[in-house]
Amino acid sequence: MTYLNVYPNWKRLSKDRIDQNILEALSHNINYYDSPKMGVPASHLDKQEFAPDSQVLEGSTYLKTLINNPNHIGVHTDTDLSEPYFAGTQRLEAQVIKIISEDILKALPDSVDGYVSSGGTEGNIQAIWVYRNLFNEVHQLHKDYSSIAVLCSEDAHYSMDKAANLLNLTITKIKVNTDTRVIDSDHLAITIEALASQGIDKIILVCNMMTTMYGSVDQLDDYMSVLNNHPEFKVKVHVDGAYGGFFLPFTHPDQPLNFNDSRIDSFTLDAHKMLQSPYGTGIFVIRKGLLKYSLTDSAQYVAGMDCTLVGSRSGANAISIYKILMNYGPYDWAERMLALADRTTRLKNQLLNWNVRLIHFEGSNIVAIHHSFITPVIATTYGLVPDNHHHPQWYKIVVMDHVKGDKIMQFLQDFKASQLELDHHKQDDENDTTFLQQHFDKLSTSHVRHRLLFMTLSRKRNQKNAKSLEPITKN
Ligand SMILES: Cc1ncc(COP(=O)(O)O)c(C=O)c1O
Repeated sequence: MTYLNVYPNWKRLSKDRIDQNILEALSHNINYYDSPKMGVPASHLDKQEFAPDSQVLEGSTYLKTLINNPNHIGVHTDTDLSEPYFAGTQRLEAQVIKIISEDILKALPDSVDGYVSSGGTEGNIQAIWVYRNLFNEVHQLHKDYSSIAVLCSEDAHYSMDKAANLLNLTITKIKVNTDTRVIDSDHLAITIEALASQGIDKIILVCNMMTTMYGSVDQLDDYMSVLNNHPEFKVKVHVDGAYGGFFLPFTHPDQPLNFNDSRIDSFTLDAHKMLQSPYGTGIFVIRKGLLKYSLTDSAQYVAGMDCTLVGSRSGANAISIYKILMNYGPYDWAERMLALADRTTRLKNQLLNWNVRLIHFEGSNIVAIHHSFITPVIATTYGLVPDNHHHPQWYKIVVMDHVKGDKIMQFLQDFKASQLELDHHKQDDENDTTFLQQHFDKLSTSHVRHRLLFMTLSRKRNQKNAKSLEPITKN
């Protein structure tokens, strides 16, 4: 991190100031308790369950917003177009979108629209929906989408498959190198040729800003250097930063996936991952002028642009993001992400010292360990997530806020002991007991000890049973 990075809109505020801003915003929303308005099918939250005079609310402007129940339907980055009932909190949502698009993703002032979506999946579907409709309109496809393909790497999130399925589009995935997770340019070149031969000449390209499994980052140039050989292809680029959007721009401030790159038109981010806000806080941002392609003309009763995939959405979600962003400010947020990256680097370095085969992207908080180093006990005790539950090749550790140094140290101790077990498995079965006696003390938790003992005994029993089941052959 450098203190020279400039964040024009994002300033850290005191908790009191943040609360005052939210109360002020709520005062510009409809007050259902006093207002004579009766035309909308909406109200505050149920009074019996969510008592507005409860003391619990006193300390929390987030809970206050929740029970006031503002609906942020539509998009509010163009204030003239918003529903007036909830103008106060919608303006705070617009501020959140401005911070994310201009301060984090380097967009020019007022050049981006966006909204708080239900999550990364919705953001990715929204992007692909916009570009499909853009191609349809600009190239007069008359809803024949057979010349459009969604293109992404095999490590892309499965929300791309959902989008392609829902939107009736072909999806094509590019192979990646097993250990580096970098896209295979030869496979890309062959794929592009194959798509061209099928009459496909429009691509919705999704670039990953930290993949779910490896934290890997796609280089747009890797795709473009091949696509540029085919000027007949029209390409729209979306970046899936659901995982990395609040992370990579802080651990790698010079990373190139941002609005400075005119080839990129939109991004998905998730506040409910690294930002630790409640679920339902994804973010979708897109250059101005493009959301019109997902405008549903028949949504006439909604004042403002309902260009979004879902309709009603809780304004409390935007307020939770606002509170977190403003409480930290950009420099403290950067320090937070760098601390996680640092912890991950130390974990990775220790594993590399033990010659463990792993995948780690510098500045990410994920380490994926090759399955050959992972015992079932380690996988289950530490809840390591495999890339594939049927044929796991890699197991990942994600260093989130709760994964503190002492937990990592305990993992490393148990992991080291488990390696002795793995080595031992290659030896004569009879040595098992000796091994356990020798290394029992090194296993830090009794849970792991019991599992290991159980597994060893089960293996011995299975082997004995297998022997007794061997067919008796007579000479
Ligand atoms: C890279 C990436 N994209 C999209 C998603 C989907 O996000 P959500 O679960 O918020 O819909 C995820 C979720 O893990 C993700 O890691």
